Order: sequence, then structure tokens, then C-alpha cells
Amino acid sequence: MRTVDLIHRKRDGEELSAEEIAFLVDGYTGGSIPDYQMSAFLMATFFSGMTDREVSSLTDRMIGSGELIDLSGIPGVKVDKHSTGGVGDKTSLIAAPLAAAAGVIVPMVSGRALGHTGGTLDKLESIPGFRTNLTVDEFRTQLAQHGLAFIGQTPQVAPADGKLYSLRDATATVESIPLIASSIMSKKIASGLDALVLDVKVGSGAFMKRQVDARRLAQMMVGIGRRLDKRVQALITDMNQPLGYAIGNALEVMEVSQTLQKAGPADLTRLSLELAARMIYIGKITPTLDEARKLAEDRLMDGSAYQKFKQVVAAQGGNPQALDRFELLPNATGMREILSPRTGFVSAIMAEDIGRASTMIGAGRSRKEDVIDPAVGVILEVKAGEKVDAGSVLCRIYYTGEENLDEAAELVEDAFRISGTRPDERELILEVVS
Ligand code: URA
Repeated sequence: MRTVDLIHRKRDGEELSAEEIAFLVDGYTGGSIPDYQMSAFLMATFFSGMTDREVSSLTDRMIGSGELIDLSGIPGVKVDKHSTGGVGDKTSLIAAPLAAAAGVIVPMVSGRALGHTGGTLDKLESIPGFRTNLTVDEFRTQLAQHGLAFIGQTPQVAPADGKLYSLRDATATVESIPLIASSIMSKKIASGLDALVLDVKVGSGAFMKRQVDARRLAQMMVGIGRRLDKRVQALITDMNQPLGYAIGNALEVMEVSQTLQKAGPADLTRLSLELAARMIYIGKITPTLDEARKLAEDRLMDGSAYQKFKQVVAAQGGNPQALDRFELLPNATGMREILSPRTGFVSAIMAEDIGRASTMIGAGRSRKEDVIDPAVGVILEVKAGEKVDAGSVLCRIYYTGEENLDEAAELVEDAFRISGTRPDERELILEVVS
């Protein structure tokens, strides 16, 4: 088998066999296929797509690139949650402790910033001392003790996803339904879960811009789960504006802390509670979804989810005091206000542009080797539908260096659409696929 022939065939829209896909995944993970050939294969896949059979083969081989974590020794249903990627999307850090505080075992395997979207691991690592590189044994021990642990894919867990994920990020091959589905499902299934709740984002800040594509992605992931005997439920949710007000790693951790203390933004609180309720229900803690919703709300109100998050932060080496004293988190050195050019209503906030601007000033990566600046990002002052006056503050950009700042500020300013009439309210949760 020759890599160039497989690239050629995928480029021409042919279906590859399971053996051929295994050859590519193993070769790239093992180092015998170079970045430039895998980049070409990814781009060919981006344009030609994959059949369901190919996606299954790709996912299976990515799972098989590492070990399948055995969590059978821990009693209880293991339920994870994953988002396909958004801007200001920090629901994992809220839904996971809510579900764990309700008794669900949550083995959370997360990703890093990808394209213009943020990553749970990068957010967690903005907490001083927080370690996401737990060994499999540490992961298991922490799950048994606290019911929640956060890791990324590692050399042991779905290593193929780790390599492909960062290559896709740097080669503009992220927005591909088969590549997203296999990336998410491989690392999730490798973590030893029984059930999974997916948040499939759609809109200007999501990889899927159209609901029909988001539905196809959701169906593909639910199908992969079903074939592997896992219960999977997907919500399709709106990402036409950032979720909450904060975008950027440490800034988002601050908003997570506020939300877990009942002082979070309405959209973020609502979606996190719904995702947690679905985890609780699918995890068989309650017999009905309504009871699960009530339990999630109780765990928010009684403060136990916040305590759970603090315990887990401490267990993974992080300083839990930083969740109460934000001066202990990385803080930006500069701030620039973006003002409204006119009076009117905010009709849209183009989330992808806000995400790209944040990446430009260091909140994400433009190249594989880039180092994240945890302190930087954007805080919105207004959300879509609100009235603004000419000269009032739309948002604040927090930065530590001036490189790319002017360009980022222009992008952020253009992201706000101001119109003369109040826009219709948008639904946050659009569909359920299960
Ligand atoms: N999240 C992932 O883990 N992988 C993707 O490809 C996109 C979002």
C-alpha cells in the first residue's frame, strides 16, 4: 500500500477499505507517514467526505491507536459530555460538576482550542497548577474518589486523535463532518464511558453553519455510539453569538465560577443545566428527564456542584482558591474598549469573528507549536437583542501584547451588527437527536 495512492483515491471520491484507513491512521500515529501526506489526505477528506463505513473504520482505528480505559471496577454508569466546538462555550466545566454532584460518574476526555473555538483543556490549564496530563491510573483513582476527572487524549488514550487534531487545526481541515465525528467519538469511547451527551453547535461560531449539517453530524455520532453499544444523545444548539459573556481561557474560568455560584449568564446557565440533566437521566440516576432537571437545578442551588468543581481542581493539582480570588488567575495587562458606532439594537454578534480575534491575540493557536496566553480574550458587555447607544461599550478586549491587537479590534468591532429594529429572539436549544 502506498500513501500517495490512498490520497489520490480519496481525492477522487472513492471509498477506502478498513485496511487502507488503518494503514493511514497507524502510519501517521507511528511516524512513518509525514505531516505533508496526512495533510493532503485530510484535505481530500474535507472535500470528498466519507461513507458511514469509512467513518466507522476511522473511529475504530483511532480508538485502537491507544488503550481502552477499563472503568468496570467503578460502580455506576459512566457518562461524558462533549461539544463540537463553540465560542465562549464553557458548559463542560459546569455540566460535569453538576452531573457528578448528582451521582453520575463523569470520565471527561476533552480537547484543546481548535480553529476559532476554545478547548476545555486550555481553559482548565489556566488555573494555576492544574494538570490535565493524568496517567490512566490517576484518572481511574480520581474518578473512584470524586466521580469526575478531566484529561485530554494522551499517548495512551486515542493518540491518533491528538496528532490529527493539531494537524487539522493548522491545515484548515477542521470543518469536516467525518473528521469531527471520528475525533470526538474516538477519544470519548476510549475513556471507558457507557453513555454520552453531545452538544452539536450550529451557527456563525460553530463548525457547522447550517442546521442540516449539524443534524447529519449528530446522527453520525449517535450512529457510531449505537454500533459500539453506547447510549448517545445529542442536542443541537445555537452558536450564532458567543455563549455567556466571556471568551478566552482564564476569563471563561471566572465565568464558570460565577455560574456555579448562581451568578452566571442566563444562556450559559440554562444550557449547562439542560446538558447536566441529560447526563443525569442517561446515567440512570433519575427515572425521568424532568426529575433529572430538578436534580441538576438543586445541585446548582445547594452549592454542591461548585464544591465538587473545587475538589476536582484541587485533586488535579490546581489552586481552588483561584476560583474565588480571580487575581490568582492569569490576568491581562491591557484592556481596550470597543464602542458602538450608533444607537440601535444588537442584531447579531458574529461568534466566529470574536473567536478568531481572540485566537489572534493569543487565546488559541494559529500553528501547532503556538503557546496559548491564558489571560487574554474578550468580555462582551451586551448580547444580541439588547439596545445600545452610540458610544456605549459593546465589549472589552483583554490583551498582554499589542501584536495583532489592532487587527483583532477591527474584527471584533465588525462582529457586532447594530440595527434599527429589535431582532427576534433565537431559540438556544434547537433539536434533540437520539
Ligand atoms: N471537538 C473535537 O474533539 N474534535 C473535533 O474535531 C471538533 C470538536
